[in-house]
Amino acid sequence: MITVFGLGFVGLTTALGFAHFGHKVYGIDINEQRKALLRQRQLPFLEKDLDIVLNKELNNNFFIAEDIKASIEDSEVIYYCVGTPYGENGEADLTYLYQAIDETLACLGECGKEKVLVIKSTIPPSTTQNRILPYIKSKIKNLESKIILANNPEFLREGHCWEDFIQADRIIIGSAMKKEIGVLKEIYTPFDIPIYFVEHNTAEFIKYLSNTLLATMISYSNEMASIAYKIGDINISDSFHLLHMDKRWNNCNMTSYVYPGCGYGGYCLPKDTNALYSLAKNKGIETPILKYVIETNDNMPKTVSDHIEESIDENMYIGILGLSFKPGSDDVREAASAKIIKELMSRGYDKIVGYDPVANDIFEHYYKFGIDYMGTLEDIIHKADILVILTAWNDFKNIKELTTKKVLDFRYMQ
Ligand SMILES: NC(=O)c1ccc[n+]([C@@H]2O[C@H](COP(=O)([O-])OP(=O)(O)OC[C@H]3O[C@@H](n4cnc5c(N)ncnc54)[C@H](O)[C@@H]3O)[C@@H](O)[C@H]2O)c1
Repeated sequence: MITVFGLGFVGLTTALGFAHFGHKVYGIDINEQRKALLRQRQLPFLEKDLDIVLNKELNNNFFIAEDIKASIEDSEVIYYCVGTPYGENGEADLTYLYQAIDETLACLGECGKEKVLVIKSTIPPSTTQNRILPYIKSKIKNLESKIILANNPEFLREGHCWEDFIQADRIIIGSAMKKEIGVLKEIYTPFDIPIYFVEHNTAEFIKYLSNTLLATMISYSNEMASIAYKIGDINISDSFHLLHMDKRWNNCNMTSYVYPGCGYGGYCLPKDTNALYSLAKNKGIETPILKYVIETNDNMPKTVSDHIEESIDENMYIGILGLSFKPGSDDVREAASAKIIKELMSRGYDKIVGYDPVANDIFEHYYKFGIDYMGTLEDIIHKADILVILTAWNDFKNIKELTTKKVLDFRYMQ
C-alpha cells in the first residue's frame, strides 16, 4: 500500500501510475474542491490520457483517502508531492511539505511498522539531509527503526504527465549513503525503467541541474532574438530552425527550449531557478549565469510590451492569443501572458481582450484583470485591432490566413 500526499500534476500522476501497475494507492489532498472533482472522475486540470487512467483506477487500485490515519498506518511507502512554491526571497517555501510530514508523524503514533517516506516535491539540494532528517529526528524517537527517508525527483512535463511518468528516462532515488531501498525498487520494477540510487543531495541537485539548464537555454534564445530584432532584417524563426538542423542538434527534443518566445513560465522553471540562485547566494557563491538567466526572463514582459507599443495606439483593442503558460496545458501559473497583460495595463492600455482554447475561465479567475475574454478565435479576430500571439497553440499557426489585421507573433510560429 502506498499513500500519496498532494493530488496535483505530479501527485495525481504518481498515484495513478502506481495504481496502473497494480499497487493499491491512497491519495490525500487538502483541497476539497479538487477531491470532489476526482471523486466524480473529473480531472482538476487538462492532462491528456490521465482521465482514462483515473476512470479505470478510481476505487479499483486508487482511493481518495477518507481516513488519513488509517491510510498512513496501512501504507509501507508514503510519497510527498505537495507544492514547494516561491518563498519570500526566492527560496523554496517548504510549508506544505512540513505540514504533510507533520500529519504523517502524528498518525504514526505507536505504530511499530517501518515506513519509507519519499519526497517527490522539488526541494533544493541538501534539504533532506540538513533540514528534513533533523526535523523528523527531533519529532520522533527511535527513528532508525521506524523511518527510511528518500527523495525521488520528478521530471515530467505538464501536458505530457502520463507518458513522461510511465515512460520516464530514468528513476532517480536519493537515499542515505546511496543505499538501495528494496520496496522502492519493487514498486518501480514493472515500469521497466533504469533505477539509480544516489546520495540525497545528488538526487535533489539533478532536478535543479535539469530545470536551470532549460531556463538558461530559453533566456539565451530570448537574448539572441533581442539582438537579432535590434539589428533588423533577420528572420528569427528561420535562424533558429536552421540552427536546429545542425546534425549535433538533429533529433534532439531539447530544440524546443533553444527557441525564443516570451520567457519561461509555468510552475517550475521560474521558482526552481530562483531557489537555486537563492541557495547559492546564501552559500556565498557568485552565480552570474543564473543571475542573468533570471534577469533576462524578468525583463521579457517589458521587452515584449515595448515591441507591442511600437505597433499600437491607446484606442486600439489588443487581442491576446493564448493565456496558458504553454500549449497543451490549462495551467496559468507564472504565465508570460499574465505578466505582459499586467505590464501593458500599467502603461495605460486597458482595451485588452484575451482568448485561449482551454484556459479563458481559469485565467480570468486566477488573475482577475477585469479584461474581456472571447469565446472563439473568430470572435477575437473580429473584436481586436491587433493580434498578439503569446502562447504557441497550433490553432494560431495559420492566423495570417484568417485575417488581414496585424499579427505580432512572439512565439515565432510563422
Ligand atoms: N508541475 C510540474 O510539471 C512538476 C514537474 C516536476 C516536479 N514538480 C514538483 O512537484 C511538486 C508538486 O507540483 P505540482 O505541479 O503537482 O503542484 P500542484 O500545485 O499541482 O499540486 C500540489 C497539491 O498538493 C496539495 N497539498 C498542499 N499541501 C498539502 C498537504 N499538507 N496535504 C495534502 N495535500 C497538500 C495541494 O492542494 C495541491 O493539490 C512541486 O514541488 C513541483 O516543483 C512539478
